Parts: sequence; structure tokens; C-alpha cells
Amino acid sequence: MRIILMGPPGAGKGTQAELLIKHYKIPHISTGDMFRAAIKEQTPLGMKAKEYMDSGALVPDEVTIGIVADRLAQADCYNGFLLDGFPRTAAQADALAKILSDLNMGLDGVINIETDDATLLERLTGRRVCKQCGATFHTVFNPPRDQGVCDKCGDELYQRSDDTLETAQNRLKVYNDQTEPLIAYYSEQGLLKRTEGDQEIEQVFRNILDVLEYQ
Ligand code: AP5
Ligand code: MG
Ligand code: ZN
Repeated sequence: MRIILMGPPGAGKGTQAELLIKHYKIPHISTGDMFRAAIKEQTPLGMKAKEYMDSGALVPDEVTIGIVADRLAQADCYNGFLLDGFPRTAAQADALAKILSDLNMGLDGVINIETDDATLLERLTGRRVCKQCGATFHTVFNPPRDQGVCDKCGDELYQRSDDTLETAQNRLKVYNDQTEPLIAYYSEQGLLKRTEGDQEIEQVFRNILDVLEYQ
């Protein structure tokens, strides 16, 4: 299965990705996670990405496209992959089409998780993420068994530095300006599959499997 997960910040891309990659046994390629890992390791890529991520802006296309091209060329992507948070601009979508055509690969579907803005801000500002394994929780909607502790590995949970109200609002604006137009782009190609994101996590997951398998 070769899938793109699209949707605004907080739509539930990462949450659904955790379930989908287990179900289909495919690698999870999240550009946001790759940038955060590079920031943690203080690599030159991380230093560059941080400047943009701190304000909620997009990292420049030339940087982002390069890391995805390298990742998709790795052997574990041969039988499928899930892209989360890429592409996010028209230039990235065009570059992806070229990368996949060079690799002789097509896409099975582009899932768009639709969620309204008020819900998104609540989700972003209450999100907590595991320092060790990256599992995602929410203080109200998906609380861990013990406050501040990861259910899966027992490590500490933290709040992403771009999950403040101000930065989250800016990320939503950037999404509306630069990424939302890709919905029409993939719809015209007959690849777009819509799902309603304002439902229980498990229900959203079942709907995604349904649109992937039967639509
Ligand atoms: P990225 O890490 O991709 O962030 P994002 O797109 O803003 O999306 P999020 O990760 O915030 O949300 P999500 O949809 O994954 O939601 P989640 O499942 O966590 O990008 C971060 C930054 O990196 C960008 O701003 C940019 O600077 C840079 N970047 C990344 N990719 C780039 C690219 N391609 N080009 C340029 N720059 C790039 O869920 C959110 C919360 O809601 C959680 O707490 C969760 O528990 C809860 N939740 C999830 N589903 C539900 C549900 N159904 N009901 C109730 N609560 C739910
Ligand atoms: Mg995410
Ligand atoms: Zn963990």
C-alpha cells in the first residue's frame, strides 16, 4: 500500500499513521518527525529546519524534497509506505510525482482527514508526545494511563514547542494558504479519499481502511 495522509495540523495524521503502518506493515515517513529527530541530534539539517518550525512556517522545498527522495529510494519502501505531512506545497507534489515515476511506483490513495479549525486548536494545544517512542496522547481526548508517562514504553511525555496557541494558529494559516490547494490537485487525479476526522480515533481508522479498500 502506497499512501499519503493529508490534513491540517492536528487532524490526526500521526495518530492514524501509527495504526495504519501496523496494519499494512509499511514504513511511516513523516517529514515533521524527521526534522524533529534532526533537531534533537543538532545536525545541520536540524538547525536549518528549526528556524522555520519554531514560527510554524514551512521548511524550504529544496531541503524537504531531498530528504523524502532519499528516504523513498530505500529498500524498505519498495513494497509500500505511508507519507505523513508530505507533500505540503505544489512544488513538493510535483517533485513527488517525478520521484515516484523514476522509481516506477504509483500511489494507491491520498487520504484527506477533514476536521474543523476549533477542534484542531484544542487538539494541538493539549497534545503530549513520548520523548522515546514518539507515541501521541492528548490530555483530554486520549490521556495516558499515568499523567506525563507513555503507555507504550514508560518514558516521559513532552509538549511540542510548536503546539503553543500562537504557533498552532500560524500553522493552520500556512496550511490553508499552501497545502489545502493540494486537495484539488489529487482530486483531479482521482486519488483523493475523504474521511471525517471529528470522530473517535478507532472510528476514523475504520473509515480510512474502508475508503482505502473499497473506494
Ligand atoms: P508536522 O509534524 O507534520 O505537523 P503538522 O502537519 O502540523 O501536523 P501535526 O503533527 O501537528 O498533527 P497530526 O495531524 O499529526 O495530529 P496528531 O495525530 O498528532 O510538521 C511540523 C512542522 O515541520 C511544520 O510546521 C513545518 O515547519 C515542518 N514540516 C513538516 N513537513 C514539512 C513539509 N513537507 N514541508 C515543509 N515543512 C514541513 O493529533 C493531534 C492531537 O489530537 C493529539 O493529541 C492526538 O492524541 C489527538 N487526536 C488525534 N485524533 C483524534 C481524534 N479522532 N479525536 C480526538 N483527539 C484526537
Ligand atoms: Mg503529526
Ligand atoms: Zn513511548
